Order: sequence, then C-alpha cells, then structure tokens
Amino acid sequence: MSKNLLAISGSIRAHSANTSVLKSLQTFAPEDIYIHLYEGIDQFPHFNPDITDVAQLKPVNDFRDQLRKADGIIICTPEYAFGLPGVLKNALDWLVSSGEFTDKPTATISASPLVTGADKAHAQLIQTLKVMGAKIPAGASLTIPTILKKLDDHGRVNDQSTIDDLTDLIDTLVEQMNQPVSYEL
Ligand SMILES: Cc1cc2nc3c(=O)[nH]c(=O)nc-3n(C[C@H](O)[C@H](O)[C@H](O)COP(=O)(O)O)c2cc1C
Repeated sequence: MSKNLLAISGSIRAHSANTSVLKSLQTFAPEDIYIHLYEGIDQFPHFNPDITDVAQLKPVNDFRDQLRKADGIIICTPEYAFGLPGVLKNALDWLVSSGEFTDKPTATISASPLVTGADKAHAQLIQTLKVMGAKIPAGASLTIPTILKKLDDHGRVNDQSTIDDLTDLIDTLVEQMNQPVSYEL
C-alpha cells in the first residue's frame, strides 16, 4: 500500500539548500512512497498558548491535520547561531500539547555549507522531537556537511555518498512506518 511522507524544511529562503535536499528525496524513494513538501510554517503566529482566535490558528490547524494524516515525517534544517532556526522551533512549539508527533515515524536531516553539517541544530531538533514522542529510528538521522558542493545547478543532490545516505535514511523510515503500532495495556 502506498504511503505518504510530509517533508518540512527549517528554511524559508527561496533558494534554500535544505529545501533542495527535501525536493531531491522523491528521486531516491521507493515507487509507492509519496513525499509532499509542506510550505507555510512562516504563516504561523508566534507561539502563544493564549491565542484562541480561529482565524489566527487556521494555518497551525491545517499543519496539524497534515501531520496527523502523514505516515511519516522528514525534517531538514539549517543552523543559525548554533541553534534551530526560530521559524522551525516556533512551528514545533505549536505541536507540543496537540500530540501529532506521538509515535510518528520521523527522520531528521540537517545541511550546512560548513563542515559541521549544522550538527548543533540537528541535536536540538532530535531533542525537541523526542520530547514530543516522535519515533526516530536508528539510521534515520543525517547531518550533511558542505552541502553547496553536493547540489547541482538545479539544486538536486548530485554527490553519490550523500545520495546513498539519503536512500538509506528513507528506507529506514519506511521500515519503521511498516512496523505494527504496539499499544501498552
Ligand atoms: C546570521 C547567520 C548565522 C548562521 N549561523 C550558522 C551556524 O551557526 N551554523 C551553520 O552551520 N551555518 C550557519 N549559517 C549559514 C547557514 O547554514 C547558511 O546560510 C545556509 O545556507 C542556510 O540554509 P538554507 O540554504 O537551507 O537556507 C548562518 C548564516 C547566517 C546568515
């Protein structure tokens, strides 16, 4: 049966390297896996649990719906000042008490022009997702250093070792998605 993955970029730049990585992923995914890129985290209000206005919460609730419907999630993020981009952290903060990540098979990627591969933002991302109950299987997390040398002129990943890593990451995530959900009685 086909499965749907929701991809979320931590960058809202028009020519983002991280968004390019996510756009490349469909090429490396099995035939029955569909990857949809979610665009719109920049439309959310600043996180404030006091907000109850339905119109203001609409983009957040649409995002929550899409997360609930997805069989798995892939997040790819840059790092700013050794941390997660504020726009991504803000989006994740909106999910802390609504539970969309509970037991959700999730893969994490970070990409940076620097040799560090945005490792500090990546570590923070994993910490935040884990506290929300995401299932991040071993092998479904990847840091990509020197990303600008690994994209072609059209923004597609063209570095073979990175392609292999991304293919393995998707395979691992799909394997987790195919595991039966176990409930504790
Ligand atoms: C103000 C600022 C701070 C940055 N801080 C970091 C950093 O701490 N670590 C890092 O790896 N890259 C850092 N960068 C470089 C970004 O990784 C780079 O701009 C990257 O291309 C952004 O990701 P994107 O292409 O997906 O938008 C910084 C860039 C700016 C403009």
